[in-house]
Amino acid sequence: MTWNWLSPTRFFFGSGAIADKYEEIKTLGKRALIVTGKGGSAVRNGSLRDLCRALSDCDISWDIFREVEANPSVETVRRGAAIARETKTEFVVGLGGGSPLDAAKAIAVLAVNDITDEEMFAARFTAALPLVAIPTTAGTGSEVTPYSILTYPAIDSKKSIFSPVIIPVLAYIDPEYTRDIPLNITVDTAVDAYSHALEGYLAVKSNPISDLIAREALRISGTELKLLTSGTSPGRASREALLYASTLAGLVISQTGTSIPHAMGYPLTYFKGIPHGRANGILMPAYLAFTLRNGDNPKVMEALQCSGFSSLQEFKKLMRDLCGPAPECSDNEQTRFIEICSQAKNLSNHIVRPSRQDLESMLQESL
Ligand SMILES: [Fe+2]
Repeated sequence: MTWNWLSPTRFFFGSGAIADKYEEIKTLGKRALIVTGKGGSAVRNGSLRDLCRALSDCDISWDIFREVEANPSVETVRRGAAIARETKTEFVVGLGGGSPLDAAKAIAVLAVNDITDEEMFAARFTAALPLVAIPTTAGTGSEVTPYSILTYPAIDSKKSIFSPVIIPVLAYIDPEYTRDIPLNITVDTAVDAYSHALEGYLAVKSNPISDLIAREALRISGTELKLLTSGTSPGRASREALLYASTLAGLVISQTGTSIPHAMGYPLTYFKGIPHGRANGILMPAYLAFTLRNGDNPKVMEALQCSGFSSLQEFKKLMRDLCGPAPECSDNEQTRFIEICSQAKNLSNHIVRPSRQDLESMLQESL
């Protein structure tokens, strides 16, 4: 079997990353659109100030689109793209958590392509504006991935755009920006990063390098997830470890894609408002149990052992402690969730292909 590796993001990791290395931005153009969240965290954590200082020093002018909501909608990214066109933006900077980064990617596409929503999700485009990513949460790894995940009411769920042209060319990954993230969001995003490493490790498309990186991401994430059960906010070293692990896990899924927990988790987020990482955390134990029941694949226990768990029971307890109980879901809701997630392409990316009945059992086991 042949495999390949594409990971073109030049990233700078560490405290003060933008201030130290902003010269790189000069090559991208003279006019930028900064895409960030509604909540104002980019102001509070200092990232917007650092970015604007760097752009100003590089003689680059900018506009700011600060309307990105959690789980951004297609409508929001279309509004952002209209501004990018009006202002003749030459490159887009995604600044914030996964939502602004993913929105920035879709805006970079729609700024230079007159396409329908369906064409966008089917990646019927061959160009996008260059992208810079500055993550301020430690979860999605979007700064190094070819994915943008948007809320798409036409299918009552979230849907991903996959294209190599939306991989950021440049990323500044600075743990200082994650320092004051509230504990509940820290847990949610850390579980998301863990799920990326786990699903990537058990993916059909995994390869020797993605496995190597996944094991390291699992090791670091597993250690940090256990520390998060103490209920205290992580210190500086842990913040850096969490962000490093999320970038590593992003590199993994940039090659392998995700699988069952992501496919099943999107409807839980869409209909029940469960944060993305928690939705994955609620589903992961049943997904691992299903995998163990269906064949003797040593990678499941390897993944748990890399993460510091001696049994699935131990892992299940940790996920329950971190993610809390699953939401109440009626029989009708469960049927609808299964209908939606059984359409997801990434279900076939797991080492064991689940049937509809398997999905139903995993959901019931999780709720
Ligand atoms: Fe995710």
